[in-house]
Amino acid sequence: MAKVRNWQLGRAMDYPYDAPRPKKQFCMVMDTNKCIACQSCTIACKSTWTWGKGQEYMLWNNIETKPFGFYPTGWDVNVLDLLGQQGWDGDTYTGTTVFEAAPVGEKVLGWKPDEADWNHPNLGEDEPTGTAGETTYIPDTPHANMWMYYLQRICNHCTYPACVAACPRQAIYKRPEDGIVLVDQTRCRGYQECLTACPYKKTMFNLETRVSEKCIGCYPKLEQGLQTQCTTSCIGKLRLTNYVSTPENADPRKPADFLIHIRKLALPLYPQLGLEPNVYYIPPVHVPPEYLEQMFGPGVPGAIETYQNAKDDPELLGLLMLFGATERVISTFDVADGVARGYDDAGQEIVAVPLKEPTFVRPLEFATELKGEPVTGFRHNT
Ligand code: SF4
Ligand code: SF4
Ligand code: F3S
Repeated sequence: MAKVRNWQLGRAMDYPYDAPRPKKQFCMVMDTNKCIACQSCTIACKSTWTWGKGQEYMLWNNIETKPFGFYPTGWDVNVLDLLGQQGWDGDTYTGTTVFEAAPVGEKVLGWKPDEADWNHPNLGEDEPTGTAGETTYIPDTPHANMWMYYLQRICNHCTYPACVAACPRQAIYKRPEDGIVLVDQTRCRGYQECLTACPYKKTMFNLETRVSEKCIGCYPKLEQGLQTQCTTSCIGKLRLTNYVSTPENADPRKPADFLIHIRKLALPLYPQLGLEPNVYYIPPVHVPPEYLEQMFGPGVPGAIETYQNAKDDPELLGLLMLFGATERVISTFDVADGVARGYDDAGQEIVAVPLKEPTFVRPLEFATELKGEPVTGFRHNT
């Protein structure tokens, strides 16, 4: 095992080989507070990449309701259970990762889903937990103590991918130019060690072709400077496709660096597993913090406070408003004179969004008659 630096754990960790970081690291940021589980992202991905034979139950992107939803069944509770006690001392992880806890002779601690575990992607959808008083009728808001939320899940294109570490054929690789993790289907022989190893269960086995497949980060779009299909189809405008630096190289002009390292608002999913996953989540503000801290690590209380105060932070507010505002990848951004602007790699402006939508009040003389009745005091926002 090599020693590598995992900034999400605040320490070095054992990894099966010495993995150099890519030149750039693809990432996505998801604002869980805005998701309505419409599954537009799921369908955009499916109709683009997984509509063939053997891919019927294959969802590279899925939205699951937490705490009861899973795809495949039990993916996170099973690995957390295997891992045992987890803990943090400040920002430093004190437990073991799936690499450090690997059984003798194995590279990764893992488990393999049954075929039927992939058949119920909507398990637990919209099921809340907690109590709502004595009846299901909720007289007071906010909804007594009941909660649930939606978790947007794609492959994390991990810095230290368990799927790459586990494949005996070296059929999975991480692209040095952007950190995207891909399966070389000409090398894959269907050993499925990747399915056992990936704790997020984001490699999937095609029963027709007998090889593994997974999210490709929409690399043909990225190569043209475009955001992914699941990002651009998102009705809630909660996704951002971007690139993330290590904390010591964070650049406040870059959207993902700003959200992840500068404001520490977007957090990794189960960082304690040790893969340094690269999908980052703005945690939901209405969920008990103990649950969220297990899922997103010790940064949760700070992230929630930052999000709740975003209205007083024009730079952050402006960046959040740039989510979903363009199909192009935003390399840098700024907020000035009440306008958030995004720029491409060449520094050209590609999008501008006002922090406040202008409101116009129509003068009374333009009021029209409705159903024959004269309208008085008619005001209209355009
Ligand atoms: Fe591999 Fe799973 Fe990480 Fe994706 S999420 S890179 S499939 S280990
Ligand atoms: Fe699918 Fe592309 Fe989103 Fe991956 S990034 S889940 S391939 S749409
Ligand atoms: Fe390797 Fe997974 Fe194929 S372990 S051989 S990529 S099924």
